[in-house]
Amino acid sequence: MGIEELYKRLEREAGEAAEYAGRRIVPGEGCADAPRVVFVGEAPGAEEDRAGRPFVGAAGRNLDIMLELLGRKRVDVYITNLVKARPAKVHAVTGRVSNRPPTRGEVEFFLPYLREELALLAPEYVVTLGNFALAALTGGAKAAIGTAHGTIVRAEHVLFPLYHPAAAIYNRKLASVMREDVLKLRDVLEGIV
Ligand code: URA
Repeated sequence: MGIEELYKRLEREAGEAAEYAGRRIVPGEGCADAPRVVFVGEAPGAEEDRAGRPFVGAAGRNLDIMLELLGRKRVDVYITNLVKARPAKVHAVTGRVSNRPPTRGEVEFFLPYLREELALLAPEYVVTLGNFALAALTGGAKAAIGTAHGTIVRAEHVLFPLYHPAAAIYNRKLASVMREDVLKLRDVLEGIV
C-alpha cells in the first residue's frame, strides 16, 4: 500500500465516523519517495482547509523561511500533519468559525494514520513542529518541546523537535531560538554533528 491508498482509506473511514464526516482531509505532500526529512505539524487551519494542502497560511510562510535556512525546497521534503482535518469551533453568538487545538479524540483517531504514513515514508528524521506532534510520537508528554527542541529524540522514529512555525508569529523571542534550531538541524543533515 502507498501513501495515496492510505489517504483514500482515511477519507473513507473518516467519512464513516460521525465526527469527521463532511470535514476535509488535508493530505501530506512533497517528496514521498524515500524523503530524508518529514515535517509533522499539528493540524490544518482555515487556509489549509480551503486549499486542501498543509502549511499554506501564515505558519506555512514561516515554515518556508525555515526550509530556506535549511537549504531545502518543499519538494525535497515531505510535509504533513498529525490531525488531518481542521479542528474548528463556532462562536455561539457571532457564528464565526475559528481554529482550536485538537482534542484528545482527534489525536487518537488520526495518530494511527500518521504512524502508517511515517512507516511508508521511512524517513531518516521526523521533524515535529510544536508540542502536539512531539507528544503523539513520543507516546505522551515524555519529551516537552521546551527542553527537547533542537535535539535528537529517539522514539519510534528519530525525531528532531522544533517549535511550531506559528509560535514565532505570537512570540518574537522564539524566532531566534527557532533559527538556531534549524541551523542545528542543517548540521545534522549535513553530517557535521
Ligand atoms: N499549522 C499546522 O500545524 N499545520 C498546518 O498545516 C498549518 C498550520
